[in-house]
Amino acid sequence: MHQLAGKTAFVTGGASGIGLALGRAFAEAGMKVMLADIEAGALEAAVKSLANDAEVRGVLCDVTEPESLERAAKAAFDAFGNVHLVCNNAGVGGGSGIDEISLQTWRWVLDVNLMGVVHGIRTFLPHIRGHGEGGHIVNTASMAGMNSGLGFSPYAASKFAVVNISEGLAKQLAPLGIGVTVLCPGFVRTRIWQAGRNRQERYGPAHRPDPESAAGKLTAQLAELGQSGLDPADVAAQVLAAIRDNELYVFTHHSREWRAELEDRFDAILAAMDKAAARASPTG
Ligand SMILES: NC(=O)c1ccc[n+]([C@@H]2O[C@H](COP(=O)([O-])OP(=O)(O)OC[C@H]3O[C@@H](n4cnc5c(N)ncnc54)[C@H](O)[C@@H]3O)[C@@H](O)[C@H]2O)c1
Repeated sequence: MHQLAGKTAFVTGGASGIGLALGRAFAEAGMKVMLADIEAGALEAAVKSLANDAEVRGVLCDVTEPESLERAAKAAFDAFGNVHLVCNNAGVGGGSGIDEISLQTWRWVLDVNLMGVVHGIRTFLPHIRGHGEGGHIVNTASMAGMNSGLGFSPYAASKFAVVNISEGLAKQLAPLGIGVTVLCPGFVRTRIWQAGRNRQERYGPAHRPDPESAAGKLTAQLAELGQSGLDPADVAAQVLAAIRDNELYVFTHHSREWRAELEDRFDAILAAMDKAAARASPTG
């Protein structure tokens, strides 16, 4: 989507962090913006912070519930007409030691991070296809959806799935002129480390790992890296460029270490395939 001014963006998780920065970047690019979020106070403040010179609204929305997203989408259509750009960005972090992750935590993280993206696509794709004015879908995954760093974790599982469905969606939507971008950030300075603030009651209380356990120490270390992470505005600028250039992947972090992690994973996969081929070959 080269031409953004005058078009409409819908951003889930838009009250904070990366989502709010995306909303700001879209508003500055002349778009109308609907921020959708589960956190009422933060949402109100976010809309106020952007609404000076731009058409920006907010709508309460829980992405785990398809009806809630449909209601939020209707609010966007009523306010602005057609929606062209959808950012399925709402996300939560959760997990701890291998044996301590409850099923409720698995369900919460998968419901928000994976099913939230699925609900966003199901809600908006027929609309974007139907109005025929072009469009773009941005799904927020993570480097945790690319490397195997965190291992057995609902967060990484959800983000691997988001990468996969984005890649598949990009192939299916290219002929329709609808672009897809999957955002894979490293550490960004946001409130993701306090994600438990929005954990719905039905998933039960969040489990905090013992700070002295290996999982507790890892969590503290990751939270510290998050606090010294990238400015969300830098992430939003890269996403804006990717939408304009119709790029599938956005990697905000590209140090030697991040690259090495990907190379290790891909090398191990290819080596296993080579071994299988050698076993299957009569000569080999
Ligand atoms: N911060 C990082 O280091 C980092 C790195 C990689 C990926 N990400 C991803 O970026 C996305 C945005 O997270 P962030 O880092 O800006 O964190 P954040 O906590 O600042 O923002 C997340 C937003 O999602 C909202 N949200 C949570 N549950 C929701 C629900 N059920 N329905 C609707 N909204 C809900 C929150 O209220 C919040 O406003 C997430 O998908 C996250 O996994 C973040």
